This record gives sequence, C-alpha cells and structure tokens, in this order.
Amino acid sequence: MQQLIRGRVLGFHADPHDTQDNHRYIEDGAILVEDGRILAVGGYADLARDGLAEIDHRPHLIMPGFIDTHIHFPQVQVIASWGAQLLDWLNTYTFPEEARFAQQGHAPAMADAFLNLLTDHGTTTAVAFCSVHKESAEALFSAAHARNMAMVAGKVMMDRNAPLEVLDTPQQGYDDSKALIDRWHGTGRQRYAITPRFAITSTPEQMEMAGTLVREHPDCHIQTHLSENRDEIDFTLSLYPQARDYLDIYETYGLLSDKLLLGHSIHLRPREIARMAETGSRAVFCPTSNLFLGSGLFDEAGLREAGVVSGIATDVGGGTSYSMLQTLNEGYKILQLRGQKLAPLSAFHWITRGNAMALGMADQIGTLDPGSMADLVVLDARATPAMALRMDRAETLEQELFVLQIMGDDRSIRQTYVAGKPMKALG
Ligand code: GUN
Ligand code: ZN
Repeated sequence: MQQLIRGRVLGFHADPHDTQDNHRYIEDGAILVEDGRILAVGGYADLARDGLAEIDHRPHLIMPGFIDTHIHFPQVQVIASWGAQLLDWLNTYTFPEEARFAQQGHAPAMADAFLNLLTDHGTTTAVAFCSVHKESAEALFSAAHARNMAMVAGKVMMDRNAPLEVLDTPQQGYDDSKALIDRWHGTGRQRYAITPRFAITSTPEQMEMAGTLVREHPDCHIQTHLSENRDEIDFTLSLYPQARDYLDIYETYGLLSDKLLLGHSIHLRPREIARMAETGSRAVFCPTSNLFLGSGLFDEAGLREAGVVSGIATDVGGGTSYSMLQTLNEGYKILQLRGQKLAPLSAFHWITRGNAMALGMADQIGTLDPGSMADLVVLDARATPAMALRMDRAETLEQELFVLQIMGDDRSIRQTYVAGKPMKALG
C-alpha cells in the first residue's frame, strides 16, 4: 500500500561541517511511502495523485526519526536519582535497579514502556544496553520486533565489582550473548551489540570472551564505556596495570573497529584519540548525563579535527531526558563551555544522518533517501506558548531549528512513524 505524508520536509545528505550543500528543504513537500519504505520525496504537487492515501502534517516539519546511540533500557526507573557521581551512582542506584530485571514479567513490561517513551520523544532507533539477564534483551528485541522498530541492543557482560544478582561469568556471558545473536541479530530490523559494560566490571577472562564474540560475529556492533569520570579511570587502570591507557584495554582484547561505540570518551589522552581515529572507533557524546553526573565536557571539535567520528545520545538513566532535542540543548551548552559551537543544521544532522553514519546504517535510517525505511518525526516548533512567542520572531529555517534545539522536547513531537506506521495517537 502506498501513502503520501505531506508537510514541510527536511532531510540531510551531507555533514554541514563538510559542505554547504548538506540538506534539502521542501516547503510544501511530501514523502511517498510504500510497505514501510520511502519511495520518493518531493514537492506535494509532483507526488499527489487521485486515489492515493494522504496525511497532511502542514505546517509542521517532517524529518527522519531521531537516533539515540547510547541508552540503558533497565534504567527507566533510575533516571533522576540524586546526588552521586558515576561509581557511587552505579552502586547506590543502578545495580540494585538492574537486579530487578531477573524478576518474571518485569523486563517485558519495561520494554513496552521504554519503546513508547522513545517514540513519544521522536526516537525511532536506539542503541541500548540491557541488564546482565538475557531475558532483558529478549524482552526488548521481542517488543521492538513486534513494532518493526530498528534496535541495536545487547545484554551487558559483567562478572565483577557489582552485586551477585547482576553478575554473569565469562562462560555464561559468552553463551547468553551467543544465543541472543543467533536468535535476534538480523531478525527483521534487530541487530546485536556485543556489550562488555566497561573494563571495571569485566575480568580479563571476560574481556577475552568478548573479543572471541567480536571475532566470531564481525557484523555485530560493540558497545561499552570509556573515560567518563576521573575516579573511574584511576580504578580501571589499577585493575589493568599493564594497559598503556584505558583504550588500550579494549584494544588488547580486539574490540577496536568502526563497529565499536565508546560511550562518553571525555578524558582522553592523545594516544587514545589517535587510535580511535586510526581504527574508526566511535565516540558517543552524552550531554545530559555528563552534566548530571558531573563527569566532564566532551571535546567535539577536538575529536572531529583528529578524525574521530562521534555520535550523540541520551544515556538515560545517567542522562536526564529521553528527548534528543533536550540532548542537543545540553550539548550546545557543553560546547559553549568549551568555546565550541553546535549550529542548528549540524545539530539536526547529528541526531539523524550523523548518528546513522556513526552506526554504519545510513543506507537504512537517518535520511529521506528513497529505499530508506520510513522512520519519521513530525516536529512542531510552536508546541508551547513560550516557543510560539519566540517563533513569531523567527524568520529562517535555521532559527526555527534552533528554537526546537533549545526549547523542544516531547511536546514538539506531533507524530512519529516507524516503518511508515504512526506511533502516536494524533492530538
Ligand atoms: N559506565 C558503566 N556503566 C554505566 C552506566 O550504566 N551509565 C553510565 N553513565 N556510565 C556507565
Ligand atoms: Zn552508558
């Protein structure tokens, strides 16, 4: 079945940092969708024809759905936990909460709530850490598959420095990850990410097993954390005294490649930055989390100039909002503190095509190119009285985007389409 989705259409085909010719904006535009895929994008008058089903989103802005490249599914009830920095926050709030995912029925209930939250906030693909229990990943994949929503996810591997209820063993972590890869990687739109949580919670034996999984499944993503917090770095280096630096631990076990997503990547040494660039390993900027946990200020321009590709992400529940718009808002402020700029076109490129490029998935998601999945978000820059008042003084597309970037949240998400299907009851 074909369907025409009408509105003001904006999509990116290049990075605004690289070229002026980076986006296409169509004032009275439309997206022709067939069987969940984009067939064509153009002016409404060119695509409309008698008998074609239409939905009219004017005057709102239609873009590719947002992509969140780092989020913790079992932290939906951890978000907004008071007063701690990373290691205390993990021990006090996060590990006990993740332990609850062993309870029958908890993970499926949370998976539905989690996916609803994502689409309510305009996010159509997420890269998610699950709990240590394979049932948590099973629940998330099942729920995402039922919605035809592209998830990249994995159960965390962790075998030390946490309560027993959230630990596996090197063998169990390997076996469970393997079973999940066999069941879910490439099933519909689901993809597996091999997920050693971080070096603190994995023994060398477990890191070895993670490396074996990576060699056996070179097509899977790998996700972990790197250099988020100074105490974390000191503890990590004490656990791996032979390592030249934090990244060297992951390198030793064969994890570095363009499939590797390194959450945070804040306090990096020059050698680490050079190796990330050489191996194509991705940094992932998590602004709301980095401010909330007092972790530090990500060096976006420094990494880009060194040739490191970065994604941007919420990191809920260290992060404080599911909204990629709020993530951009805090990201803008972090870069301000660094003397750097996050311009609106770059910002919206980043949460769509940029994150898709970081994942190597831009042929499927993140753009409006024909053949891509029809994962779309419909944005209202006048969603609140304060935004509407500000918008009365906005004259350009870039000004409108900046209002969304700074003031927007889930109230600005009028609709979210996943593979051509609306996910929100229209208000
Ligand atoms: N490092 C290891 N685990 C976590 C986590 O759950 N959240 C954050 N922000 N950092 C981590
Ligand atoms: Zn994280």
